[in-house]
Amino acid sequence: WGDYIMSALLLFFPILLAWTEGTSAADDGMPFMEYLDPNRLVCLKWGFDNLKGNITFQLAVNSTGWISLGFSPSGEMYGADIVIGGVGSNGNYFNDYHAKEEVMPLLDKEQSYTLLSMMENDGQTIMTFQRAIQSCDEEDFHITAQPIKLIYAYGTSDEIKYHGPRRGTKEVNLLNYVPRTSNANATYLSVKVTNVPVPSNKTYYHCKVMKLSDFSTKHHIYQIEPEIENPDIVHHMLLYHCPPTVTTPYENPCYRGDPGDVCFGVVAAWGTGGGVYELPENAGIPIGGENKNILYRLEIHYNNPQQKAGVVDNSGLRLYYTDQLRQHDVGILNTGLLPILSVNYNIPPKAAEFHTYGLCNTSYFSQLVNPMPDLQVFAVLLHTHLAGRKVRVGHFRKGKQIDFLGLNENYNFEMQQTVNLGSIKTVMEGDEIIVECTYNTEDRTEPTTIGLSTFDEMCLAFVYYYPAISVTSCLSQPNTTLLSPTDYQPLVYTNAFIRDLTESPTIKCKPKNAANELCPSWIANTGGILLSLLWMIV
Ligand SMILES: *[C@@H]1O[C@H](CO)[C@@H](O)[C@H](O)[C@H]1NC(C)=O
Ligand SMILES: *[C@@H]1O[C@H](CO)[C@@H](O)[C@H](O)[C@H]1NC(C)=O
Ligand SMILES: *[C@@H]1O[C@H](CO)[C@@H](O)[C@H](O)[C@H]1NC(C)=O
Ligand SMILES: *[C@@H]1O[C@H](CO)[C@@H](O)[C@H](O)[C@H]1NC(C)=O
Ligand SMILES: *[C@@H]1O[C@H](CO)[C@@H](O)[C@H](O)[C@H]1NC(C)=O
Ligand SMILES: *[C@@H]1O[C@H](CO)[C@@H](O)[C@H](O)[C@H]1NC(C)=O
Repeated sequence: WGDYIMSALLLFFPILLAWTEGTSAADDGMPFMEYLDPNRLVCLKWGFDNLKGNITFQLAVNSTGWISLGFSPSGEMYGADIVIGGVGSNGNYFNDYHAKEEVMPLLDKEQSYTLLSMMENDGQTIMTFQRAIQSCDEEDFHITAQPIKLIYAYGTSDEIKYHGPRRGTKEVNLLNYVPRTSNANATYLSVKVTNVPVPSNKTYYHCKVMKLSDFSTKHHIYQIEPEIENPDIVHHMLLYHCPPTVTTPYENPCYRGDPGDVCFGVVAAWGTGGGVYELPENAGIPIGGENKNILYRLEIHYNNPQQKAGVVDNSGLRLYYTDQLRQHDVGILNTGLLPILSVNYNIPPKAAEFHTYGLCNTSYFSQLVNPMPDLQVFAVLLHTHLAGRKVRVGHFRKGKQIDFLGLNENYNFEMQQTVNLGSIKTVMEGDEIIVECTYNTEDRTEPTTIGLSTFDEMCLAFVYYYPAISVTSCLSQPNTTLLSPTDYQPLVYTNAFIRDLTESPTIKCKPKNAANELCPSWIANTGGILLSLLWMIV
């Protein structure tokens, strides 16, 4: 049980175009790409799966000789973990090396990389290989979510010898990739508030409902950049699109019964600590065209615990756009717990780990979108307030957990950013998404409610996917009393329940000399549990 709510507010999002398109280049599990050299002869594509613990690379070099990629502490060969491979006269060769000095690298005792494919085509060698993200081999580089100095080199023949000038280095954050596209001519829309007097209240939500553009044809937003004037108090910003019934621009405190309170289709999201976010190359957030007259609501949450007076703010978002349409329209699905509950639900004080759950059951999407296309999920933004310590987003199919769409075991209120998943995860019709939030209220003496204030709690996961469909929110609320009608005019579903999430994956190294393998502890699954767990303190 537990009441299930899906607000069906926005049915006009342009969706039909994207439906018929097939899978894209980025669907091969390697959504990221960088040229490692200025002449664009050395191209690295990669993708990873944090849960399975693998990272896959494809190195393409315009050479028919040997090619190599390394991970280096300094950017030099010294201390680097290196793979070298190629197509030779006697077939393919591929090996894992490490360099102790600036001379020919030494073969690793343990070969930690797996060759997936090797080919030579049109003067180019393309080598695809995989390894564990966390290697247990001392001779391998430990890949972390930090910028890593990648080195490359290649030869003109298959005899592996000194590379001469055919080498270089580039720093790339493999696990937390943000492309550095600094196009001086890039055009953007500046979506900002102007001289907002921020009240000295601890929490203040400001809403500006406005038109964004006059684009008569569809454009795609491909990058979102925050423009923050008061970083100490601007806590999060959300840009929503409005239903066509909202026709008048205005600016007011949010959620006071204004027409724009029903604008809930997330277009862009930013949280404190987050930076620039760029969408995958094959997808963009649609704007303009047949929806050119719709209004948008910019919501800025000001968190002012010191109750500073006299702050005036001009913050907002830059939306970089292009008329060169990408393959897919991006949608952002808001999942988790309804932020404004119509029932009484409290997180008790003095709890070390209190779990709250929100359910999105896509079985109901067919009432709004029929047929529902497969949703290709590529990024997620998790959101709670101060008491949040962990957020896990379970992905279930046919009653079994098949994956996590998001996982943060060390959730930090000050660091909220849209995180690329590293590979594409497919949500199919009938799949369930369960958002689990773990709160710590040991420092509190009063119950914590679910609500908008920083001192209330939220439990949300914004799921970025393509192709966009018309469903914008898929939220639930605990069944504590019978529901009264809410402002959302929701579709209410009963008989919903929360399934058990599996344990988060852990990495364990086998004793030395054994093969590197990860313990896929998350695969084990148990049956469903009832929503009564909501009130259980673990
Ligand atoms: C990850 O590596 C394991 C072996 O460690 C392998 O069985 C599995 O297929 C890999 N996963 C992916 C997604 O390639
Ligand atoms: C590298 O090789 C590919 C495949 O032959 C080719 O399309 C590309 O133009 C080459 N790049 C450069 C910079 O020469
Ligand atoms: C910017 O536009 C100018 C004029 O259209 C063009 O010459 C220049 O190459 C462009 N620069 C970039 C970085 O795209
Ligand atoms: C600020 O707090 C005061 C006193 O609690 C309240 O009356 C007022 O409505 C609040 N202002 C806003 C904009 O929330
Ligand atoms: C809430 O749960 C109770 C107890 O199981 C059930 O009787 C009631 O029908 C539920 N309410 C709704 C709206 O589902
Ligand atoms: C999701 O909806 C389907 C169809 O109504 C139902 O069979 C299933 O039990 C629901 N899942 C949960 C977890 O409530």
